[in-house]
Amino acid sequence: MCGIIGYIGDRKACDVIVSGLKRLEYRGYDSVGVVTENGGELYIRKGAGKIGELEKKLGLSELPGNRGIGHTRWATHGIPDDTNAHPHTDCTGEIALVHNGIIENYLELREELLEKGHLFRSDTDTEVIAHLIEEELKTAGDFEEALRNALNRLKGSFALGIIYSRDVEHLYFVRHESPLVLGIGEGEMFAASDVPAFLPYTNRAVFIDDGEYVILSKEGYTVKDFRTGAVREKEVHTINWSLEMAEKQGYPHFMLKEIHEEPKAVKEAIYGNIEFMDRIAEEIAEYDKIFIVAMGTSYHAGIVGKYLFQRLARKVPIVEEASEFRYEAEGVIDKNTLVIAITQSGETADTLAAIRLAKKRGAKTLSIVNVVGSMATRISDLVIYTHAGPEIGVAATKTYTTQLTVLTMLAIALARHLKTVDGDYLNTLEEDLHKLPELIEEVLGYEDELKALAEELEEKKDFFYIGRGISVATALEGALKLKEISYIHAEGLSAGELKHGPLALIEDGVPVVAVAPSGKTFDKIVSNIEEAKARKGFIISLGDNDELRKISDVFLRMPEVDELLSPVVYVVPLQLLAYHLAVLRGNDPDKPRNLAKSVTVE
Ligand code: AGP
Repeated sequence: MCGIIGYIGDRKACDVIVSGLKRLEYRGYDSVGVVTENGGELYIRKGAGKIGELEKKLGLSELPGNRGIGHTRWATHGIPDDTNAHPHTDCTGEIALVHNGIIENYLELREELLEKGHLFRSDTDTEVIAHLIEEELKTAGDFEEALRNALNRLKGSFALGIIYSRDVEHLYFVRHESPLVLGIGEGEMFAASDVPAFLPYTNRAVFIDDGEYVILSKEGYTVKDFRTGAVREKEVHTINWSLEMAEKQGYPHFMLKEIHEEPKAVKEAIYGNIEFMDRIAEEIAEYDKIFIVAMGTSYHAGIVGKYLFQRLARKVPIVEEASEFRYEAEGVIDKNTLVIAITQSGETADTLAAIRLAKKRGAKTLSIVNVVGSMATRISDLVIYTHAGPEIGVAATKTYTTQLTVLTMLAIALARHLKTVDGDYLNTLEEDLHKLPELIEEVLGYEDELKALAEELEEKKDFFYIGRGISVATALEGALKLKEISYIHAEGLSAGELKHGPLALIEDGVPVVAVAPSGKTFDKIVSNIEEAKARKGFIISLGDNDELRKISDVFLRMPEVDELLSPVVYVVPLQLLAYHLAVLRGNDPDKPRNLAKSVTVE
């Protein structure tokens, strides 16, 4: 999973590219590279490390020329080192390119090209593409034809940025199962993996689809199908994300900014969907066989969705990781199946594969997505946008609470349509839904207590998060947040499971976080808390019943809220706890080790 940016215009290309790469670092940051063209010569600087370290070390801002391409890498083939950093070139050095994705047949292509005398410098799959174009150029009429011939030999996923020193008027970009978007300027053009890369220069964007390539010039762009060569007309989107939204706004990290944006994001999610949730509900109401597929945090949102559908719409979705569904569900999907995919990026490889499997089997597909124009939105029958705005931190926060918000709205609309639950209760629930932003604002007020708690727990090695019913998902999500940014081991589990094994791990001082809103199983989780306390666990309870104070070492008094709405509110203190523990332990919460914002490869 990497970041690509390209520029052609009258500015100094390297300045545009370096600033863009900094805004794409969440997509991968183990190595960086830039290529520009000046006077028909290519100038390449690249190396292992982050853009901040390499900018001066490599002299990136000294590169001449008004057109160029840059890359920030998250390694998939070849260790992160100077040689494997992008861009990669062909034997002549006249073709340079950067790549996001995985070429599945690169070994056979590499063998074929080696036999034809090509010399490889790196261990990457990417370099094969440069040599393949070089080889095709020997017989093709022009560069574009050579490019198309090469593209039709590739198997796998690839977003490419390509510069050819003999064609000084153009840059070439390709999209196949890895994101690519154009920025439309006045007398200048941009291409990138994601919108924030060029947002300081233009908010007019064109989203490229799989199987398409782009010929970019200062004046404009042509989009073509690389299978057929046919020209494709594309819609220009206006992105209403100001640059400030995509910058930190004074917070130390994007993650903290995005946690504090949750009240506004949830409000946007409500008002961005209030007009047409009923129509979506009508379109899916007939389906009884329902799968919810997602990965990571989005999978936890799916679990909340299951409880909401069960309790309100009397439907029982099967919630599965997309990585399992895509290989196991083929035999049970048909035209009577509804598959709901939840993906903030809209580009998660496993989730896209799950959607494609569903479509192939004739199922109805509904995707809940944050990123406008992402692939999931273009291959699904129905789309609900979460309107969370750009989420730059790798850890999902506001995109999670907005996923829960739209799932709640959908379940309420379904229940109303199906008349499965008392209408007055639904009206009350909807009114309470509109109060969620202020409830989140209230619990954000606990940040100082949570920071103090993090200081008390900084040395702990194992955390347990427990919940019952809909709060099981909150427990799982709280544990994931802690793991992925503080690197402390944590386990989320159904509180009823404690006695079936995990209780053996509770000993003196082991933190147990109990997610305990009032509800029909409140007394049960109180018993579970007491079991953990009896083993001298360090109990941290979140709830609105003061009985918890007596049995907890730390009690976070949460605002009263319907249990079905509680996940949106109860996850926020867990996000803050994870964030402050990560910072205390010297980690960068925005760029946790080994992880990427969107896992666009399997
Ligand atoms: C959550 O904090 C992680 N960033 C990760 O688990 C993420 O939720 C998962 O990769 C799914 O991403 P998606 O929502 O973009 O599909």
